[in-house]
Amino acid sequence: MRSRDQRPEVQKGKWECQIECCDFRKFLPTLHDVDLILCDPPYAREYLDLFEPLSKLAAECLAPRGMLAVLYGQSNLPELYDALRTHLDYRWTMAMAMPGDAPTVFHKRVRPQWKPLLIFMRPGAKPVRWIYSDLINPAKVAKDLHPWQQEEGGIRRAVELLSQPNDLVVDCFLGTGTTGVAALETGRRFAGCDVDRKAVLITRKRLGLV
Ligand SMILES: C[S@@+](CC[C@H](N)C(=O)[O-])C[C@H]1O[C@@H](n2cnc3c(N)ncnc32)[C@H](O)[C@@H]1O
Repeated sequence: MRSRDQRPEVQKGKWECQIECCDFRKFLPTLHDVDLILCDPPYAREYLDLFEPLSKLAAECLAPRGMLAVLYGQSNLPELYDALRTHLDYRWTMAMAMPGDAPTVFHKRVRPQWKPLLIFMRPGAKPVRWIYSDLINPAKVAKDLHPWQQEEGGIRRAVELLSQPNDLVVDCFLGTGTTGVAALETGRRFAGCDVDRKAVLITRKRLGLV
């Protein structure tokens, strides 16, 4: 594995931040040596088919000790674990607390207070860096840009726990670009995509690219 110092110089404007409007199945094959894919994909059942390809493409573009971290609702969790384990090894499940009024899951009769953040690594990869806490407690919930928007403080904490400065962090389900904001503010490089043009525009504005 190349050491951090041997990596090619980061090109200003290109690698510090790359945002595309496309499907993640087109985007991830353009990347390599990714240190952290941190994403919050759609939770509905009809999207379950996305996760076997996500597992495969993550296995191909992650750095040897890179991680895929997926924030996900509880309802379809067994299917998600199965799909992500097809090409990756399971490492851990972290908990992202949801302060305030999280949506009630009526068909399960549950009022959730936290969301799982599932961590996977390439097959056979040995964890070296510690994850110093597996519980993230964001101060508040922000939904001012979009109903799906995640709280910046919680995502920022996840970025800090799961990567290091100058690492390449990727979010291939951008939404409003919360992961991008957290990554750039903590000195990481960032790349991301979304199929939705509006989401890409919000992200670009939030990151100061337009
Ligand atoms: C739950 S939202 C992400 C919200 C984000 N964490 C935030 O804070 O705003 C999921 C996003 O995934 C995008 N998406 C759905 N299918 C996709 C695909 N195949 N490739 C890329 N993006 C996709 C949707 O357009 C949506 O913006």
